[in-house]
Amino acid sequence: MDDDDGLEALAREMDEAVAASDSLAGLEAVRIAALGRKGRLTALMRELGSVEAEARKRRGTALNRIKTRLGEAIAAREATLRGAAIDARLGLETLDLTLPARPTPEGRIHPVSQVSDEIIAIFADMGFDVVEGPDIEDDFHNFTALNIPPEHPARQMHDTFYLSGPEDSRPLLRTHTSPVQIRAMRESPPPHRLIAPGRTYRRDSDQTHTPMFHQVEGLVVDRATHMGHLKGCLEDFARTVFEVEDLRMRFRPSYFPFTEPSAEMDIGCSRSGGELVIGEGADWLEILGCGMVHPRVLEAVDIDPDQYQGFAFGLGIDRVAMLKYGMPDLRAFFESDVRWLSHYGFSALDVPGLARGLW
Ligand code: PHE
Repeated sequence: MDDDDGLEALAREMDEAVAASDSLAGLEAVRIAALGRKGRLTALMRELGSVEAEARKRRGTALNRIKTRLGEAIAAREATLRGAAIDARLGLETLDLTLPARPTPEGRIHPVSQVSDEIIAIFADMGFDVVEGPDIEDDFHNFTALNIPPEHPARQMHDTFYLSGPEDSRPLLRTHTSPVQIRAMRESPPPHRLIAPGRTYRRDSDQTHTPMFHQVEGLVVDRATHMGHLKGCLEDFARTVFEVEDLRMRFRPSYFPFTEPSAEMDIGCSRSGGELVIGEGADWLEILGCGMVHPRVLEAVDIDPDQYQGFAFGLGIDRVAMLKYGMPDLRAFFESDVRWLSHYGFSALDVPGLARGLW
């Protein structure tokens, strides 16, 4: 065999085959035909053994050069084919950014969710943590630790839903969010500054009561907490949530087993003409219960009442929503009527925040 005999022609032929491949699979076939185990270049390399020494050197060098060149040509062609495949795909998957957005979806935020977020925003701004507790409670957290021992008349007042269980430890649906105070105080040492929003349950149903409703509990415990803190905090809260700067407010003495002294807070309103307007007129409307945490409650969670004092409050979220947005019937809140929801609901983009107004 002549040294260069046919090698140049073979190299050119293979170059052309590489250039002519228009798919990655075709290119791979060309590579196998030349460089695979049974490929033509591989066969020629194998034949080198039988060539006389001097000629073998020259032919070997020539074959290696062809092999390298072919490898480079294949790599370059592969890059070109891959690039073309991506371009073709991008061409198919065009995204027209000038198209108008789809109309906003139908879904609305329920007023209870919206008002909860408003209330949370106000207290978070005052430095309160947000905590949660279970809806299914036990007697200890819902009653006993809150200074409501068995046989206490307040147990009757609460019209509790009991679940089935052993007579002396029947689980119950919490009748207020106050058990979360107990859980929080048992979980970590004072000071505490928290709110606990959530669902609560009582056997009650009329225009302003539903068996399930929502409360926000508030609890502050520190070494020198006093009634003035309670008043200032709740007055600030009421002005902000109802968005009435000169809102009239009063604290009326009241009774809760877990606070002493206890009070209810009223805000000024007018009811003339059957319409309720917050912040005007000479009438009063009760919005929350509050008081200084009873020493027995602190003792029940191993906090020394001589070292620490606290205040607590409980507020009906649904009630605030009714007042603030003029919704007359609480029962409608939980009927899942989309007509009601699309009328009273909020856009998902109306995220409450103090920096730009609550709504
Ligand atoms: N838990 C009381 C209720 O549901 C409200 C309340 C909470 C009162 C905290 C005082 C302090 O009626």
